[in-house]
Amino acid sequence: MSGMPNAATSVPNAIPATLEWRDDTLYLLDQTRLPLEIVVERQACVEQVWKSIRELKVRGAPAIGVAGAYGLCVAMQDSRTESVESFRARLAERAAYLASARPTAVNLQWALERLHARLARQEDAADAAALYDALVDEATRIHAEDQALCEGIGRHGVALIRPGCGVLTHCNAGALATTGIGTATAPMYLAHRCGTRFRVYADETRPLLQGARLTAFELQRAGIDVTLLTDNMAAATMQRGLVDLVIVGTDRVAANGDFANKIGTLGVAILAKHFGIPLYVACPSSTLDLATRAGEGIVIEERASDEVTSFGARRTAPEGVAVRNPAFDITPHALVAGFITERGLVGPPFEHNLASLFS
Ligand code: MRU
Repeated sequence: MSGMPNAATSVPNAIPATLEWRDDTLYLLDQTRLPLEIVVERQACVEQVWKSIRELKVRGAPAIGVAGAYGLCVAMQDSRTESVESFRARLAERAAYLASARPTAVNLQWALERLHARLARQEDAADAAALYDALVDEATRIHAEDQALCEGIGRHGVALIRPGCGVLTHCNAGALATTGIGTATAPMYLAHRCGTRFRVYADETRPLLQGARLTAFELQRAGIDVTLLTDNMAAATMQRGLVDLVIVGTDRVAANGDFANKIGTLGVAILAKHFGIPLYVACPSSTLDLATRAGEGIVIEERASDEVTSFGARRTAPEGVAVRNPAFDITPHALVAGFITERGLVGPPFEHNLASLFS
């Protein structure tokens, strides 16, 4: 067992860091082993980084973006002695490869495009080593910015958490999904720091249990009052009057405010509307995709059927049964009360308000 101390100052120390870039090497916390084991893996090559993203060892839209940025640095380490031309050609090919690891979270594409744009500005680079240094510098900036974006979301969302309230969340949009204090959890961490008492209801989030394994783990470690629910308990919990607001994260927000998030979010949003509970979406600008007009333009990742036919290592369905396993769903903007962003709380009409704050 080993764990990296959390370098992001405001993340509670008891929560292991999602990733670290040290001595030109990328280290990732293997989130598939949580909550039972805290294991950190050195990423030896770009194929390993691709696999870590694909297998959800590192997951959550902002964390995938930062891991992808450092992953491209790992990919280019061997090309430092090549010509500038071959370095640039290889960069484009390696970036396309990394982007193919997961399609829905726009942060991965966004981070890789930022590295590409940075090198496009290095027209007068003396050699490939100088290009490599610029890549690492840009990846390090993306990493630092991610932490600041989380803090900004926290500042703009903290007032939503009133003393004594119940907050329901789905999946894990927490510290483990970012390199800071999370997105959906950022207002929670700040409210907790201010001494506000509140309770979080965490959906366990089938099929891969990010709510049970990750959200319950990190909030409990931070000393936040968290109660775990199976996904089918959310309706009854709302009906009992225990939930005052819902805060979720997102993998991609379209220009009209439709958003993709972990499968099951749509159901939670419909329930919240039924019970008159406001649903907020915590979202850094790196997750906005204003080039995609509406939710139907967002690609939804389909994952392997064995995630549904088994529970952990145990098979729970008959051999050969047909299975659907979309990893995300699209929630229409009509079910959203507001977006909590690093620049402020954005209410409807979203098409206009998101564009005027971010374009
Ligand atoms: O499949 P995952 O675990 O990567 O899904 C994560 C989510 O759906 C999160 O809610 C989303 O990425 C936002 S993370 C701040």
